[in-house]
Amino acid sequence: MSQNKEWVVLVPTPLQGHFTPMLQLGSLLHSKGFSILVAHPEFDTYKPPHHPDFTFLSVPYALSRSGTLSTFSFDTLRTIGTMNRDCRGGLVSLLKDEEFDGRIRCIIYDWVMNFGEAVATDLKLPSIVLRTSSAAHTLSYQVVFDLHAQNRLPLSVTQKQDLVPGHQPLRFQDLPAEVFSEIPDGVLQFFDSITNIRSSVGIIWNTTEDLEHKELNQYQQNCKVPFFNLGPLYKMAATLSSSSSTTTSFLEEDAHCIEWLDKQEPKSVIYISLGSLTSIDKQELEETASALANSGQPFLWVIRPSSIESSSWIEGLPDNFRELIGERGQIVKWAPQKKVLAHRAVGGFLSHCGWNSTLESICEAVPMICRPCFGDQIANARYITQVWGIGLELEHVQDRKAIESTIRRLMVDNEGKEIRQRVLELKLKLDASVQNDGSSYNSLNDLTDFILSR
Ligand code: UDX
Repeated sequence: MSQNKEWVVLVPTPLQGHFTPMLQLGSLLHSKGFSILVAHPEFDTYKPPHHPDFTFLSVPYALSRSGTLSTFSFDTLRTIGTMNRDCRGGLVSLLKDEEFDGRIRCIIYDWVMNFGEAVATDLKLPSIVLRTSSAAHTLSYQVVFDLHAQNRLPLSVTQKQDLVPGHQPLRFQDLPAEVFSEIPDGVLQFFDSITNIRSSVGIIWNTTEDLEHKELNQYQQNCKVPFFNLGPLYKMAATLSSSSSTTTSFLEEDAHCIEWLDKQEPKSVIYISLGSLTSIDKQELEETASALANSGQPFLWVIRPSSIESSSWIEGLPDNFRELIGERGQIVKWAPQKKVLAHRAVGGFLSHCGWNSTLESICEAVPMICRPCFGDQIANARYITQVWGIGLELEHVQDRKAIESTIRRLMVDNEGKEIRQRVLELKLKLDASVQNDGSSYNSLNDLTDFILSR
């Protein structure tokens, strides 16, 4: 195929954890010769990351929406609903520009940005959906639909710990909706809008058979379009694309922490980050700080501005903890996470278990402590601890002794050594899947042929 002649339009959600895998997919498709057009709903709180090889189009939508995309709340779902309603017409007009006329091969949209499918239908183009979460999480929406259809909701709280039949190790409390009380209006419709692929002709997954063989098969039984299992997109892009070093961050990365990591002992540092949307309360901040101080481990802690409830940043940290910052520990507002996890000094990751963080941690063979907050993070944590055995659950987030002992179990004890060995074995499998003739590598070739054949 001649270079840069045919466009693939990517429609990402303007949230960090969704934008990143879409850009990684873009890098892969660009390496296959496609021109990449990233058409995203307008940003308000952030600037989209620059990417030298892509063309960016901002699609306007009308709403007062300030702040709703820098932390997670019910408003986030509402804003996403508005984007889906308002961006369709705008994107259709933008794509009718003569620059793209007749040269768009397909539209690939984030599963949450389903207006991408509507635009493709309007323009008589094929569309493919990118699932940015695990297959296990995506499957679990069906459980909620089934429970609702069978009039079994709300479930009794005594069933919280029960395993969901056919979806082990997930328990009812790990499902994407709180099924022990009335589900708020609009939530089931939202779930339907993100799981229904309508006229789309394929699904791209940021996962792999090495991680989710059973779940992908289970999903494929009820969904007859072809699957392209390209995960981990992070590793695929790093291995196969020349532009992979381009940052995908919305926030400025504080690179000084790498110089500090250079001075630490191998595998001694615990890295703490709860992703781009999560917030915690002051009590948890204090308990975590105390646990880090008492653990004796060096630490690198990402605390985003306004991610501590009722604080602007770290003013709630106790003075005796602040004394540790500089020598034994670092606090940054946003880290170059992929470089941090790849650093030889990092020996553990206390994480919210966002799907990107989970994949990045596995790819760098870093064992995890799981502190999930909402959404898919809860199912991811179950898989990390119960299926892959590559992490420990943090059971009491407001108990300094519990946090300290979990850090010690992972970083110092024999239990941690076994977990480290398992994550290394899993990393090696994923390494193989992105190499020549590996499953994700082959899936990318299949996807390229599929797009060209439409
Ligand atoms: C959200 C959801 O919370 C997550 O569960 C879902 O799977 C995707 O959307 P987020 O919370 O941001 O994402 O978590 P995650 O998926 O882990 O993505 C965070 C990204 O930000 C990662 O790629 C990580 O490398 C990056 N990051 C995080 C940084 O670059 N620096 C940081 O300091 C923290």
